[in-house]
Order: sequence, then C-alpha cells, then structure tokens
Amino acid sequence: MRQPLVAGNWKMNGSRSAVGELLEGIKAGLAGVKTAEVAVCPPYVYIPEASTRLAGTAVALGGQNVSTHAGGAYTGEIAASMLVDFGCKYAIVGHSERRTLYGEDDTVVAEKFEVARKAGLVPIFCVGETLEEREGGTTEAVIARQLDAVLDRFGAAALAAGVIAYEPVWAIGTGRTASPQQAQEVHAFIRGRVAAKDRAVAEAIRILYGGSMKPDNAAELMAQPDIDGGLIGGASLKASDFLAICTAANR
Ligand code: PGA
Repeated sequence: MRQPLVAGNWKMNGSRSAVGELLEGIKAGLAGVKTAEVAVCPPYVYIPEASTRLAGTAVALGGQNVSTHAGGAYTGEIAASMLVDFGCKYAIVGHSERRTLYGEDDTVVAEKFEVARKAGLVPIFCVGETLEEREGGTTEAVIARQLDAVLDRFGAAALAAGVIAYEPVWAIGTGRTASPQQAQEVHAFIRGRVAAKDRAVAEAIRILYGGSMKPDNAAELMAQPDIDGGLIGGASLKASDFLAICTAANR
C-alpha cells in the first residue's frame, strides 16, 4: 500500500504574517487528516518559521528547489545539506517553472535529483508536458524523456528514493485540471515505464498529480489507481482548501 502524500508548493507567495496564519490554520485542522502524509514547501526564508511552528506535528517540510552543488561560491543558491539542516524531508526538483523560466534541462534536473537523494532528502521529481506537446501527440515521449533522465543515469534504485509528480504544464495555475482519466493514463504510463526497469520500485513509488488540484476535484483524482496524492500550488495557500485536499485522501 502506498501512503498518499499531499504536498503544498507555496511558490514565491507569503509574508511572515501570512505564513504564520497559514501554518496555524493547517495545524488546527490536522486531526481530520487520516491517511495522507502532509508536507509543505515554503519559500526558503520561511522554512525556519515553518519548522518551529510545525514542531510536534507530522507535517513534513520541503524545499522548492535545491542546488546541484554541495556548497561554495554559488551566489543565491541553497545546498541540499542546508535543507536537511533545517529539518526538510523533501525537495522539489524539475518543476515546470524551473524548467521553463530558469532553463533547467533534464540533465540539471537529474543532477538535482541525485544531489538531493544523496543528502538524504526525498526528491519530488516533476515531469509534465506542455499543451503544445499534448496536442501534438507527444505527451508520452516527453514524459519518457524526462523520466529517463533520472532512470537511465542513476537507475531505478535511485529513483526509488524519490516521489514522482506528474504535472501537465497546461494545468498548472490555469484552473484547467487534467480529467481523472487523462491523469490516470499518464500515471499508468509512468508506472509502466519504471516497471520496465524494476517492477518492485514501480509498485512502491508514489506518483502525485499536480495542476489545479482543488477541494472539488481532489477526491476523484486521488481515487485513480495510480494517483498517490497531489502537489498543490494555489490551493495550498488557503488552510481550509489545503486541508480539504488532504482529507480527500482519507480511506
Ligand atoms: P497549481 O500548481 O495547483 O496552482 O496548479 C501546482 C504546481 O505547480 O505544483
């Protein structure tokens, strides 16, 4: 049985007071979350605040990004060891915003995956096609290429230390969600591709869906056999919505 994971990706949102309010709101509603593991990925500067406020709860912390380097003269970067130092369990790698806005290619994403894994973090490895790619019929080819960047270079055993997030780029922040069937198809494809390398890893690895997951579509998405939770952007900024998504995974 794969335990569902619901992770909030706050992106570059918040302020000290808003973050405090959001965290207190999440804490207040955790009793209703029966099945899912819950995680939040605040902007780096709010990680210490989140760590303090979440102490004693089961909510895990994650970074939204991580450097490919272990340390040194890399202005503006954050090392995996620093995330570990502040109690992070997860690090998002390969988010489409990093890929498209900051030019991170498959090679860089794979390096980030490996650096995070080696530091003891659980990488949340994002893959997903653009609308153009979907309409052009290349969804599977794109996902395969993105997955293989880690699978071929580091192997299924390395991938097993992570979580995969399928995030169709056309569904991120657009209010346009993949239908449960559309998402399930790609999730099954991803699991099948991992299975071709290692069946046990494919069976155990969690594959999250991300892209306009909201309280009103979360249950149906998470009921799909290969969807093991969600990576939540916009809806993770409101405690009641985020909690509603977390409880939608209750079994
Ligand atoms: P969204 O973002 O839920 O706002 O679509 C998801 C993500 O980018 O991880």
